[in-house]
Amino acid sequence: MVANWKMALSHKAALEAAGALKKMIKKDNPVETVLCPSFPSLAAVAEVIKSSEKIQVGAQNVHWEEKGAWTGEVSVLQIKPFVRWCIVGHSERREYFGETNEHVITKMGLLLKHGITPVVCVGENRQDHQAGQATQVVAAQVRQLFAALTVITVHQIVLAYEPIWAISSDPLSEPDDPEQAAEIMLLIRKIAVELFGRETVERLRILYGGSVTEKTVEQFMIQPGIDGVLVGGASVRPLQLGDIIARVGRLNS
Ligand code: PGA
Repeated sequence: MVANWKMALSHKAALEAAGALKKMIKKDNPVETVLCPSFPSLAAVAEVIKSSEKIQVGAQNVHWEEKGAWTGEVSVLQIKPFVRWCIVGHSERREYFGETNEHVITKMGLLLKHGITPVVCVGENRQDHQAGQATQVVAAQVRQLFAALTVITVHQIVLAYEPIWAISSDPLSEPDDPEQAAEIMLLIRKIAVELFGRETVERLRILYGGSVTEKTVEQFMIQPGIDGVLVGGASVRPLQLGDIIARVGRLNS
């Protein structure tokens, strides 16, 4: 369960939310939760949750170079002391910051080199969706990503399928049909099996993201092949996020 807080929370609010969640999540809840605050709050959120086994910290992005003259950017070496996870290739990065699959692949490699789990986002936009091209677009993205991985490293990443038209910040967004989302997961697993062999099908971790809330999370989580969720808007209020985590936990215990 990955909570993408985007730019929604002030430093103070991020610390309060992390503290509240730490208290709220029951010890027997099996869900691995990753909180992704903005860069300035990574260290302090990591400090707040450090004694929690179930909650970890992730970054929302990282630069594709390890070091260099990149004004305003943040390197993997700078996030490494605080995070075990990092989102890469989020559709907002791809759309507004011109990130390509090549950038995403470079970032993924850098994160793996430093022992940070990349949460790699893929997904089709509204136009592709309406044109019935979702499977082709996602298959092409995934094939390119997988070409940069091995039978070992493919299990060190987490994929997040996020249909861009379903992300709640888009005023026209609508949640995906859970069965349709599960079909895309199946497609991704088929490609993985073709490239890496049968055992990959069980071990590959894939999340669904896009307008997931406490009302819809179970509908996604009961689908075969959906291992977790990447939540944006519904993750910034601790009570709501705590509810989502509790629901996922009940399904898995
Ligand atoms: P959402 O965002 O849950 O608000 O749709 C998901 C995301 O952008 O990762």
